[in-house]
Amino acid sequence: MSEQIGLFGGESEDAANQTQDDLKAKVAELHSQLNQYNYQYYVLDDPSVPDSEYDRVFHELKAIEQAHPEFVTPDSPTQRVGDQPLPEFESVQHELPMLSLDNAFDADDMRSFETRLKKFLGADSPQSVEYVCEPKLDGIAVSLLYENGLLVRGATRGDGSRGENITLNVRTIPSIPLRLRGTDYPARLEVRGEVYMPKKGFERLNEKADEAGEKRFVNPRNAAAGSLRQLDPKLTAQRPLEFCCYSVGIIEFDTDVTDMVETDWPDNHFDVLNALSALGFITNTEMAKVTGIEQCLDYYQALSQKRDQLDYEIDGIVFKVNNFALQQQLGFVSRAPRWAIAHKFPAQEKMTQLLDVEFQVGRTGAITPVGRLDPVFVGGVTVSNVTLHNKDEIERLSLRVGDYVVVRRAGDVIPQVVSVVMDKRTQDCREVVFPDRCPVCNSDVERVEGEAVARCTGGLVCDAQKKEAFVHFASRKAMDIDGLGDKLIDMLVEKNMINRLADLFRLDRQKLIELERMGEKSADNLLQSLESSKNTTFAKFLYSLGIREVGEATAQNLAKSFGSLDKLLEASVETLQEVDDIGPIVAEHIVHFLDNEANQSAISDLIAVGVHWPDVVVVDEASLPLKGLTYVLTGSLELLSRSEGKAKLESLGAKVAGSVSKKTSCVVAGPGAGSKLTKAQDLGVDVIDEEAFIELLKQHGIEIE
Ligand code: IVH
Repeated sequence: MSEQIGLFGGESEDAANQTQDDLKAKVAELHSQLNQYNYQYYVLDDPSVPDSEYDRVFHELKAIEQAHPEFVTPDSPTQRVGDQPLPEFESVQHELPMLSLDNAFDADDMRSFETRLKKFLGADSPQSVEYVCEPKLDGIAVSLLYENGLLVRGATRGDGSRGENITLNVRTIPSIPLRLRGTDYPARLEVRGEVYMPKKGFERLNEKADEAGEKRFVNPRNAAAGSLRQLDPKLTAQRPLEFCCYSVGIIEFDTDVTDMVETDWPDNHFDVLNALSALGFITNTEMAKVTGIEQCLDYYQALSQKRDQLDYEIDGIVFKVNNFALQQQLGFVSRAPRWAIAHKFPAQEKMTQLLDVEFQVGRTGAITPVGRLDPVFVGGVTVSNVTLHNKDEIERLSLRVGDYVVVRRAGDVIPQVVSVVMDKRTQDCREVVFPDRCPVCNSDVERVEGEAVARCTGGLVCDAQKKEAFVHFASRKAMDIDGLGDKLIDMLVEKNMINRLADLFRLDRQKLIELERMGEKSADNLLQSLESSKNTTFAKFLYSLGIREVGEATAQNLAKSFGSLDKLLEASVETLQEVDDIGPIVAEHIVHFLDNEANQSAISDLIAVGVHWPDVVVVDEASLPLKGLTYVLTGSLELLSRSEGKAKLESLGAKVAGSVSKKTSCVVAGPGAGSKLTKAQDLGVDVIDEEAFIELLKQHGIEIE
């Protein structure tokens, strides 16, 4: 590196001998190399070289530019780090207005859109109209102007006619080309699209804000807008923003400067998006071409299902008539085109009032504040209750009863209160007071230092905890007792018919029949499923006991390591920690639970009424041949699937990880392996192909057909 600085830094004799032309050629070569790396990393999401190689070339260019500032150009990859702060944004006039879209909220709206459109076209209307479907990204609309391939201006949409000049900021966004790829483009080209913040980047930004004790961003859209409208471009440069294009504005051809002539330009929207992709832009990978409105509705359904798995937030789907000639005929009404529509998803955030806060007691005695809301339709369902988690969360939100709050329900995620609308707070709002006695059994409530939750100390004396303990015991992954639901458990506890877990297996048929909504048949079915549930596995039994922090996986590990209840009862905090995934806290919970006399008697009681399981063969993990080694599987394998490969490696004691690091012992790379393989090579980690992998398995007695 230092040698290169010397070479181009103007310090050595050689440098003086370098002709300006040689340097210019070198700079151009470095630009093109860095642009290619950048494009593969940010646009194709498929890095071709390790970060260190990018850094090396970047520094080489930086060194030349430092010694020869005359070579610094606005499209130099070094110019992305952020320029000097601006006093204010200049106003920009859009040459063609940036339009908005009409909305559709259901299938009927969509069908009327097509009817309107066909009626307007009259005899010119095709039998079936071709549409392009694109996710409606939830970010900020941006216009990028390229002259002779060079990015000369970036602007916000503003009011559609005038926006703000944010050129210095857009330059810092790595997926925005500073120069178009290739030579085949219009002399003037305005590319329009959305700047947005991917969900992962947003979460990381909020984690950083938490660490620094700063305010969190409410959602990715606000974070993207705030980041883009910074007067200091260096701040924008630090934010994880992306740009995805969705249309073009002004286009002018001039063959004196670029190769393209007007007739080369596509006559439809879909091909334009593909042309933009070839010029170096991200286009949405979900976009599709369909015919007729019913196919638009199918696309909408399919993407609604996929919405939560996307890396970015969308608030609907945009449908656009594909053919430009038809678009031209259709024209605009006020500020929205007749040829496009946004079919919106139900809003994921709504405002409503917090009417009260009540406290629920869970299986482990944890007392959870639950907000009662003025019912509100959000994310496709009506929400009337919302968990407020714990005291810290209520303090973080500065929440009071009577406040208006923003409730968010995204996909299957449980509804959350995102923020309080402070402007609407009145004198009548009152503080949320945490109870110091359990609202169910009146026992003391304790809050352990450093823990966010408050707990009822009543144990199984507390009906709430008792009920939850039974619900957990009966659940599918535990004792799997069919027909023993929450309502029935509530009733049995309230009528004092069950007190201890084993009481379930002593239920009297006659008393069951007499219960509300319980006939002979249901009673017999329940008794039958109780009987068959007695035949269980050691792991399920352990899980069903509801030991704190012992989930299904931990219960399985315990069963595998100890094999029998007697062995487990002898285990100390230290020996427990030798089991996979058990740390000091969980080990402490297990010992505490098993040392408790009431729990011991509950266990022997269950065994006495006939709960049993087959012995578990204990495998001595430490003696497994690949113990202590970590493998990563990447690319495709022919003779077995990746998950089979994973299971085989695990059966030999190896860990199988999802990403490569210095700790990786070996990477198994099949055809099509990408960045993981590159990283392994970069880190000097052993790499083997499928053949060597099969051989390895064979050496350890596993034959693959
Ligand atoms: S097309 C004439 N396509 O939605 C068509 N807009 O109200 C103009 N948006 O401000 C826009 N994703 O920021 C279009 N795939 C997409 C879009 C999209 C998001 C935003 C855009 C605009 C608003 C339209």
